[in-house]
Amino acid sequence: MYKRYLITSALPYANGPVHIGHLAGVYIPADIYSRYLRLKGCDVVFIGGSDEHGVPITLKAKESGVSPQDVVDKYHNLMKDSFRRLGITFDIYSRTTSPVHHETAAAFFKKLYDDGKFIEQTSEQFYDEEANQFLADRYITGVCPRCACEGAYGDQCEKCGSTLSPNELINPKSAISGSVPVLRETLHWYLPLDRYQDFLEDWILNGHKEWKTNVYGQCKSWLDQGLQPRAVSRDLSWGVPVPVEGAEGKVLYVWFDAPIGYISNTKELLPDSWELWWKDSETRLVHFIGKDNIVFHCIVFPAMLKAHGDFILPDNVPANEFLNLEGRKLSTTRNWAIWLHEYLDELPDKEDVLRYVLCANAPETKDNDFTWKDFQTRNNSELVAILGNFVNRAMVLTQKYFEGKVPKINDLADYDKAVIAELPEIRKEFEHAIETFRFREALKKAMDLSRLGNKYLADTEPWKIAKTDMNRVATILNLSLQICANLCIILEPFLPFSMIKLRKMLAIETPAWDKLGEVNLLTEGHQLSAPELLFEKIEDGVIEKQINKLRAKEKANAAAASDVAPRKETIQFDDFGKTDIRVVKVVAAERVPKTDKLLKLTIDTGIDTRTIVSGIAEFYKPEDITGKQVCVLINLAARKIKGIESQGMILMARNSSGKMCLLQPSETMDNGSEIG
Ligand code: 2FM
Ligand code: ZN
Repeated sequence: MYKRYLITSALPYANGPVHIGHLAGVYIPADIYSRYLRLKGCDVVFIGGSDEHGVPITLKAKESGVSPQDVVDKYHNLMKDSFRRLGITFDIYSRTTSPVHHETAAAFFKKLYDDGKFIEQTSEQFYDEEANQFLADRYITGVCPRCACEGAYGDQCEKCGSTLSPNELINPKSAISGSVPVLRETLHWYLPLDRYQDFLEDWILNGHKEWKTNVYGQCKSWLDQGLQPRAVSRDLSWGVPVPVEGAEGKVLYVWFDAPIGYISNTKELLPDSWELWWKDSETRLVHFIGKDNIVFHCIVFPAMLKAHGDFILPDNVPANEFLNLEGRKLSTTRNWAIWLHEYLDELPDKEDVLRYVLCANAPETKDNDFTWKDFQTRNNSELVAILGNFVNRAMVLTQKYFEGKVPKINDLADYDKAVIAELPEIRKEFEHAIETFRFREALKKAMDLSRLGNKYLADTEPWKIAKTDMNRVATILNLSLQICANLCIILEPFLPFSMIKLRKMLAIETPAWDKLGEVNLLTEGHQLSAPELLFEKIEDGVIEKQINKLRAKEKANAAAASDVAPRKETIQFDDFGKTDIRVVKVVAAERVPKTDKLLKLTIDTGIDTRTIVSGIAEFYKPEDITGKQVCVLINLAARKIKGIESQGMILMARNSSGKMCLLQPSETMDNGSEIG
């Protein structure tokens, strides 16, 4: 048993509002868990805050013609406010531009520096001679070496999804001045993760077999590939300055400073006792994050904490997968999202409906889809028809037959006893689920309690026996109300707004967790308040409005991106003649680990069997493409992508909004048939 629980939730970048993907992945589970622990009487601190450094923020500022500070001020306040409105109970929601954070992050770096935990290395980086500054990878654009499209970034081509390094770009240009950057030497500090390989292997692979399989698996795959030193500084002006003499113009890499934000925010909240929370082995530290943050929280940050030496390590990192929206990836840049602040404005008093749907459908073990139709169904058929209906019937019948006073429990029939016996079972299963971070299952168990109550009333039909046996009606309603009081406890972490209403109706405070499963929560004669509806049916019109709003976004995106790619310069027939394009067959396909967009394909070219890595995983699953004939440029020089030698390029059509599809012969041809 731990003495205290330190719960952190990923610090979202302050360059856009919060959307439902963030909520389902991180903030709702973290809030449910924190509320649950508090209900049980545990000592809990729940840390949140904005991640306000990093290149995307500086780019956004540049695009909008404002300062990075303006950008983060705007989004920090928006996010903080919308989290509060959704009932996310952070004990603190601070920011990485705070003075406490700058001091804490700088001191952390300095300790590692003084203790000789870094290696210093010079490397060549692109430099903009007009703007007099080094260029972060995102600040360099050029032609993608993989798909030949313009406007690829130095770290990634957003069109084909390839991960790039800036020196691979064809015709690189500075995004600041437009000039051609030159290579210049620069000094940086690296955390030699390879030195922590043995420690991490033992700590994670032997010591944390209980971690979720998606988390454990990703860690194992990183560790199996062998860890490499990682640079922890950057040539930038926005961030925490590197606290070393001669390091002017350099800041800590955002992924070095951001997790230290958890420590800084605890310090800001508890200036006198924060150390207990971070240094005492009786604290249980749990990080709630999305899957793209796993390596930083399970490998890099623990290595930093270990190198520092004073801190405890996380006990668990229950990362979720991603939530899609209406079948498509959520995207802040493409505005394909449901923004929390807009939801709260447009669907007032429906905070719990969103909390419910995002938990019931959380991407706990695999990516999941949010659809407005499912949102409506879960509200109407679960919250209204099961939970709301049960509570309402228990309340209304008690008003009708007993003037709103909790009636006396009389002789128990076998059926009543069976219902009573179910309650501790539900509690046991609920606790097991929530303590193993299976929040969907926990919510289902909690809803089972209202299903049980609903069925109890439907089976016993107290309204029918009211004329003949009021003693029996009293027992049934007493037990039903006791179940309502139990719901106040078990559903509090999930549906806090509705449980305030329910407590008001029952005229009680939240009963202690220990009471869950018992049927003595309300005393005989206790006066209830007037019944109110807990949930309301959501009509088709409300859903249609939201779907239309999404469609409008889709159209706007398409319009914004509608400029068809400019035509390239004219080439001679001989230039085209150099290309060797063939019909080939995909004989096997698999995802490239740790990438979202890449598939590794084995193809039969009619001449040989070879491997191609292609950025199509967003559009095709391995099973969709295996066995199909496609077109391939087979005489493209081989290159390594993610360590795999790719021998050729699959031909794809790509529209202006980035959607891609394969080009396939209209009828089956021999493998190796020439195209041209
Ligand atoms: O992925 C993100 O949004 C990051 N800003 C998360 C940082 S979590 C922590 F390290 F602060
Ligand atoms: Zn590309």
